[in-house]
Amino acid sequence: ATIKADAKIAIVGSGLIGQFWAMIFAAGEYRVTIFDIYPEQVTKALENIKATLSRYESEGCLRGNSSAADQAALVTGCNDLGECLKGASYVQECVPESVELKQKVFEQMDPFITEEMVVATSSSCICVSQFVGNLKHKHRTLVAHPVNPPYFIPLVEIVPGPWTPVEVTAKARALLEQVGQSPVTLSREVAGFALNRIQYSIINECWNMYKDGLLTAEDIDRVMTDGLGPRYAFIGPLETMHLNADGIVDYCKRYAQGAYNVCSTFKPPPILYDVPTAEQMLQEIQKTIPVEKVPERRRWRDERLSALAALKKRIVDY
Ligand code: NAI
Repeated sequence: ATIKADAKIAIVGSGLIGQFWAMIFAAGEYRVTIFDIYPEQVTKALENIKATLSRYESEGCLRGNSSAADQAALVTGCNDLGECLKGASYVQECVPESVELKQKVFEQMDPFITEEMVVATSSSCICVSQFVGNLKHKHRTLVAHPVNPPYFIPLVEIVPGPWTPVEVTAKARALLEQVGQSPVTLSREVAGFALNRIQYSIINECWNMYKDGLLTAEDIDRVMTDGLGPRYAFIGPLETMHLNADGIVDYCKRYAQGAYNVCSTFKPPPILYDVPTAEQMLQEIQKTIPVEKVPERRRWRDERLSALAALKKRIVDY
């Protein structure tokens, strides 16, 4: 593989998401160094990355232009945090989702952060300002939140902290685009970023409809998989409005009252810690996917997401 000049990426935390990031950057022909608090996890992650890349190659879904072996050779392990960060232009932190832990890890990284580095956290919910406030290099940090499995779902939410300058955000976005992810940039921190704000609004309505006995769990999911989902794989809700009338202004004129009437019947957000309702859903869902079959079904999902990613690459003119 040809190695890029300004080209080292550091991955801190080499669990599920850390390994995905390593494979994504290696496909982009970056040198990647992975670190973990447990040295045996680094060894395990390297083996897993090698095996996964070779499986993707045989399944025809390997990203990038070089072979699985060449890509795996770009990923090395490291048992020292300072060594891991040394010379890196971009750091992706992937330790478990806890404010205290992320605070600790960012404090440990701070002495090794340079004015050229961008240091991103994979955090799904925690805003970076919650744990970098005391750092010397807090202005070099931001959230780069991937979606599982990031190898096949390209979206990354970039969320700057209050002190992150635009050039740092822009640098992260350019790099992520260059390695084939699809970043979006929020202008400031907000709970749930964008994806989970949208996702929770969907879950809330699904939950409330189920509780009201309007549809079965299976039929609720089918509204997405055979209704909104296929459309949303190609056009978003705003473009949908634009296409479903003579432009978005016309859509608003035609449908505003109807939409408002529907939305006025929405209930307040449900508390999902509602075990009886969840138990009832489980009984239904178990009929097709027993809990012990969840890992198998996850693999099934990832195979289909991989096929969809390949299809989109072939037919969508980005
Ligand atoms: P994981 O549990 O699979 O991996 C975390 C890794 O961090 C482990 O290997 C662990 O040994 C290591 N670690 C723990 N303490 C450490 C320390 N002090 N220094 C260095 N390494 C340390 O977790 P996962 O799923 O990879 O999640 C990582 C981050 O990515 C979390 O913030 C999570 O919210 C976020 N994320 C997870 C997604 C998912 O679906 N799993 C999706 C998007 C983001």
